[in-house]
Amino acid sequence: MDFKLTEEHKLIRDAARDFANTELLPGVIDRDNKQKFPKELVKKMGDLGFLGIMVDPKYGGSGMDAISYVLIMEELSKIDASASVIVSVNNSLVCYGLEAFGSEDQKQKYLTKLATGEFVGAFCLSEPEAGSDATSQRTTAIDKGDHYIINGTKNWITSGGRADVYIVIAQTDKHKGSHGINAFIVEKGTPGFDIGPKEDKLGIRGSDTHTLQFNDVKVPKENRIGDDGSGFRFAMKTLSGGRIGIAAQALGIAAGAYELALKYSKERKAFGTEICNHQAIAFKLADMYVDIEAARHLVMKAAWDKDQGNNYDVSSAMAKLFASKVAMEHTVEAVQIHGGNGFVKEYHVERLMRDAKITQIYEGTSEIQKIVISRNLIKE
Ligand code: CAA
Repeated sequence: MDFKLTEEHKLIRDAARDFANTELLPGVIDRDNKQKFPKELVKKMGDLGFLGIMVDPKYGGSGMDAISYVLIMEELSKIDASASVIVSVNNSLVCYGLEAFGSEDQKQKYLTKLATGEFVGAFCLSEPEAGSDATSQRTTAIDKGDHYIINGTKNWITSGGRADVYIVIAQTDKHKGSHGINAFIVEKGTPGFDIGPKEDKLGIRGSDTHTLQFNDVKVPKENRIGDDGSGFRFAMKTLSGGRIGIAAQALGIAAGAYELALKYSKERKAFGTEICNHQAIAFKLADMYVDIEAARHLVMKAAWDKDQGNNYDVSSAMAKLFASKVAMEHTVEAVQIHGGNGFVKEYHVERLMRDAKITQIYEGTSEIQKIVISRNLIKE
């Protein structure tokens, strides 16, 4: 066992920290207020290799491991969870899915652009009536020989209006249940594919979330990912990796709030001393630190499992379940430690508190993580 980061990992973490502090921090409150997508910053993150972190360099990626991925995600999320969710979805739901399950042609055509940030990707699984119950896909893809015709609606799609490439999950044969589902690559601008209005959200307001409509959208057969009927398994496998990214995001949100609360508590005075000297505040800081460190261990373990080639369905679910709980609970505490200032935007902790909530919802709610974990316990 070795709990130390390598020198290379430290350099990667420091590069992400530096980028977050110099590039993401200055406009983060404005982007949150105005729901502004960080277009230029996404391009810069692409240039730094943050959009194809684990992708093989032969497809334009950075060729790094999952430990590097979570280090980058944590640092970006300490400052701007809207930017980090774009990174997470592009890396683990889109690039990973294409690299692991796509054809060589699909990799050459799409992955090479997604890994460098020339393209942004979106992952379209959720529907008005199929959120947690992902098997109940209402979107249909009818096989017409050399192409499919897709009809349906997808909801809450991250980067929905800004993406260039969409991975769309749809039902091709409802009698086969989860074995009748496929995943398709749909390009923006395909006739019949319409982007609905942008959602006005509680948190991660700088990310771009939309409903998407598919009305007789013609998709060539070569854009189906993997064998016929493999789409549900594809979605579950990519989501297992996605949950590592979101767990690291939750960790970063919690750690960012903790760092701000610690600093504030050493500066703010009440009753004749810095508030960190009051046990009521000191014990909050201790609880935050312990929980964040425990979350970090679970996140690292899930990333390590992925790097080792171990199954990471359960370790990623555990990491996301716990880190998102820690993020929600301790961002509330960080606001409390800041008192009245915590309620004011310029102190950043209220934004982190709002951003934390979604980590308990997307890429599988906390209740879904408990289904994944408990089913595996019972099976063993
Ligand atoms: N790997 C491989 N295969 C898997 C798998 C996995 N991780 N999980 C399930 N499967 C297989 C099962 O073995 C089963 O196959 P067989 O029929 O051959 O046995 C098949 O898939 C169906 O599995 P279940 O019976 O377990 O399916 P279920 O209907 O009970 O649902 C679930 C399982 C875990 C609840 C699943 O529906 C789920 O994960 N739901 C949550 C969906 C989700 O995370 N949505 C997030 C949206 S994406 C998003 O948020 C992105 C964003 O923009 C940020």
